[in-house]
Amino acid sequence: MMDDGRTKLDDTVMLYVCVTCRKAGEPETETRPGARLHAALADALNSPSPIRIEPVECLSGCKRGCTIAVAGPGRWTYVYGDLDPETSVAAILEGVRLYGETTDGLVPWRSRPDIFRKGVLARIPSAPLSPKNPLPDRTS
Ligand code: FES
Repeated sequence: MMDDGRTKLDDTVMLYVCVTCRKAGEPETETRPGARLHAALADALNSPSPIRIEPVECLSGCKRGCTIAVAGPGRWTYVYGDLDPETSVAAILEGVRLYGETTDGLVPWRSRPDIFRKGVLARIPSAPLSPKNPLPDRTS
């Protein structure tokens, strides 16, 4: 974090929350569980924070809602499902905090919150788009 309270780009962790998620077998409600999860996480985050939360519509994990994705420059991206807007908020924020303490996004398995161990849907390598993580040199 910089002295004025803002965060550098490389400190930023993106927390994407699917706001269109429903729970399997749950009847349609006025506010979808994904939107409730997003609201609860946004309320719980302190500002300024190196965690930036963004609502998204569908992370292609619809059968395992609620879903989130965690990403950061130079870090692996993770997609998690089976999250609950009423009971998962503290564990999600702890998992994202641990993720933010890494340079590559790889939190040791035993340190991950249980809901991240059981609910991981995908892990995706970081895109080689930053000076910290350039394209591999294929000329030599
Ligand atoms: S609607 Fe949430 S993952 Fe598809």
